Amino acid sequence: MITFFFLLITLSLVPLSLSQSPKGFFIDCGATTSSVIDGREWLPDTGFISTGTSRNVTQTGLLPTLSTVRTFPLLQNEMLRRKFCYVVPVFRSAKYLVRTTYYYGGVNGGVLPPVFDQIVDGSFWSVVNTTDDYARGSASYYEGVFLAVGKSMSVCLASNSYTDSEPFISSLEFVLLGDSLYNSTDFGNFSLRLVARHSFGYNGSLISYPDDQFDRYWEPYGKNSPTTSRGESVAINGFWNLPPLKVFQTQLAVSQVLPLELQWPLEPLQNSRYYIALYFADETGTSRSFNISINNVTYFSDLKVPQSGVALFANDWPLGGPTKIILTPTAGSTLGPLINGGEIFEVLPVGGRTQTRDVIGLTRLKDSFQNPPFDWNGDPCLPKENAWTGVTCSNGSHVRVIGLNLTSMGLSGSLSPNIANLTALSDLWLGNNSLSGSIPDLSTLKMLNTIHLEDNQFNGPIPSSLGNIDRLQELFLQNNNLTGQVPSSLTGKPGLNLRLFPGNSLLNPPNA
Ligand SMILES: *[C@@H]1O[C@H](CO)[C@@H](O)[C@H](O)[C@H]1NC(C)=O
Ligand SMILES: *[C@@H]1O[C@H](CO)[C@@H](O)[C@H](O)[C@H]1NC(C)=O
Ligand SMILES: *[C@@H]1O[C@H](CO)[C@@H](O)[C@H](O)[C@H]1NC(C)=O
Ligand SMILES: *[C@@H]1O[C@H](CO)[C@@H](O)[C@H](O)[C@H]1NC(C)=O
Ligand SMILES: *[C@@H]1O[C@H](CO)[C@@H](O)[C@H](O)[C@H]1NC(C)=O
Ligand SMILES: *[C@@H]1O[C@H](CO)[C@@H](O)[C@H](O)[C@H]1NC(C)=O
Ligand SMILES: *[C@@H]1O[C@H](CO)[C@@H](O)[C@H](O)[C@H]1NC(C)=O
Ligand SMILES: *[C@@H]1O[C@H](CO)[C@@H](O)[C@H](O)[C@H]1NC(C)=O
Ligand SMILES: *[C@@H]1O[C@H](CO)[C@@H](O)[C@H](O)[C@H]1NC(C)=O
Ligand SMILES: *[C@@H]1O[C@H](CO)[C@@H](O)[C@H](O)[C@H]1NC(C)=O
Ligand SMILES: *[C@@H]1O[C@H](CO)[C@@H](O)[C@H](O)[C@H]1NC(C)=O
Ligand SMILES: *[C@@H]1O[C@H](CO)[C@@H](O)[C@H](O)[C@H]1NC(C)=O
Repeated sequence: MITFFFLLITLSLVPLSLSQSPKGFFIDCGATTSSVIDGREWLPDTGFISTGTSRNVTQTGLLPTLSTVRTFPLLQNEMLRRKFCYVVPVFRSAKYLVRTTYYYGGVNGGVLPPVFDQIVDGSFWSVVNTTDDYARGSASYYEGVFLAVGKSMSVCLASNSYTDSEPFISSLEFVLLGDSLYNSTDFGNFSLRLVARHSFGYNGSLISYPDDQFDRYWEPYGKNSPTTSRGESVAINGFWNLPPLKVFQTQLAVSQVLPLELQWPLEPLQNSRYYIALYFADETGTSRSFNISINNVTYFSDLKVPQSGVALFANDWPLGGPTKIILTPTAGSTLGPLINGGEIFEVLPVGGRTQTRDVIGLTRLKDSFQNPPFDWNGDPCLPKENAWTGVTCSNGSHVRVIGLNLTSMGLSGSLSPNIANLTALSDLWLGNNSLSGSIPDLSTLKMLNTIHLEDNQFNGPIPSSLGNIDRLQELFLQNNNLTGQVPSSLTGKPGLNLRLFPGNSLLNPPNA
């Protein structure tokens, strides 16, 4: 079994102020004005997304962040898997807790909330199914920890075959996490999807900011234990994941020297690999020791819980189905076992990214179109099922853009010279639009096989450098406003299917 642990008992780290507020972006989707709730500023979402419709939830007494949503059109047929993306500025190489919150409120007319997908950058994150929570009258939230690879990150919603009405979202949060949090995970290759985070033996309301400086949500689990720890001597700064002190003020425990069994997390798990962190502190002293097993597999042997607290991590633990944790007192223990808190995340492989050069090229191209396709946000190629409209990509680990087909898309604007950066492009089809301006130099695009720019309003000369593209087999330029001489590099090019007429006012046309 590929697992490893850190046993941590340390008091030596520099204390962090617990009063600092979470840093990042708190986005109130569908809102038109900003608001301050519990000392945190929520921004309207208009600066982060350019598609979708803002809607009010017609239900009173909701939290302000739940009272508006943004909904996205449900597209049919081949447009099914198009994604709608929020793009949020981030610090490159920092780790972010990303939380999406959904409260349906019947905003798109249906009785049941729609089920759809959520995506972070190029990776599938999870299915959003809020049906059960909504039936109970509660909002649903999803949380994960992701690495910022570039200067922005995208969170996207996409419909799927199980989506029957418009996807929607209530709020989106990006919280910058400290370096030490969850740092045993290789975030270059993996992300963490929160499954459960509980404060054991606690029955109050959700623990969050200001108790948790990163505003993580710690849900109550179980009844208050008769022996309530006050958590005063717990050294929070010794825990890399910085759990809030409040988690150590309650505990699940057994009063006799007997095993403590808990079903945790409550829901059965899908077969996968999990990051598990369990938190313990014991103010009573040292005579308490126990073994910990998860589904009968030893997780840790003979744990002696110190007053200052201890965290046990496993960062790649295979689980599936119901999960039973058993804390068994070991020989010599005069007290029963206890536990204060726990976090469990599914470890998700990062899905990859489109090559930066292609992302830059497509982004410039998008800027040069006046009305780019609405889904040109987030990663252009990934997830594979959710590539941008008209964009075809290569398979494998170095994902490149190999085809661009925006035929008859009603595009206007011009063709950015930065298209020259899409060096893996083999088919460029932009026919039957209203693009104008000159045709840029495409000679760096050595892989080009077909170029279709017909039925547009391109003007100026035909670049003679097009003749340098060895593989070029089709060049369709008819019905534009092109002028000047037809380059001889093209007229004499063997195997080239060249179309220049009708339209265009070209000199020295080749003999038909
Ligand atoms: C939502 O409510 C606000 C104020 O209550 C109003 O100004 C806004 O027009 C409403 N938006 C929609 C889409 O109905
Ligand atoms: C969503 O959740 C409900 C309730 O658990 C379930 O009945 C339904 O099948 C789920 N939908 C999808 C598409 O997974
Ligand atoms: C995680 O952070 C702690 C505290 O800064 C540090 O001591 C530890 O070496 C880090 N672990 C890894 C794997 O980077
Ligand atoms: C992913 O893992 C491989 C092998 O473990 C490593 O060489 C590579 O640097 C990792 N990628 C990133 C982006 O960290
Ligand atoms: C939590 O537990 C305490 C002690 O058992 C009890 O007095 C209190 O009413 C409980 N609170 C809730 C919200 O259930
Ligand atoms: C754990 O072990 C007990 C007793 O040996 C057995 O009854 C039980 O089925 C096992 N549970 C799992 C999940 O393997
Ligand atoms: C605790 O674990 C150790 C090492 O795996 C084992 O030798 C011991 O029998 C266990 N004790 C109990 C009470 O299960
Ligand atoms: C990528 O792989 C899929 C399925 O394996 C295949 O259908 C598709 O043609 C491949 N695309 C390219 C560009 O090789
Ligand atoms: C581009 O799209 C048009 C219209 O959808 C289609 O007729 C044409 O075959 C496509 N070209 C390529 C290279 O896929
Ligand atoms: C050209 O594009 C328009 C939409 O912009 C479409 O209505 C028309 O049918 C297209 N013409 C041809 C010949 O495909
Ligand atoms: C291509 O992208 C690079 C950055 O990756 C940029 O420096 C360069 O100017 C771009 N070239 C073209 C022709 O767009
Ligand atoms: C195209 O050229 C014709 C004739 O020179 C001119 O009337 C027309 O305005 C031009 N169209 C554009 C979009 O430049």
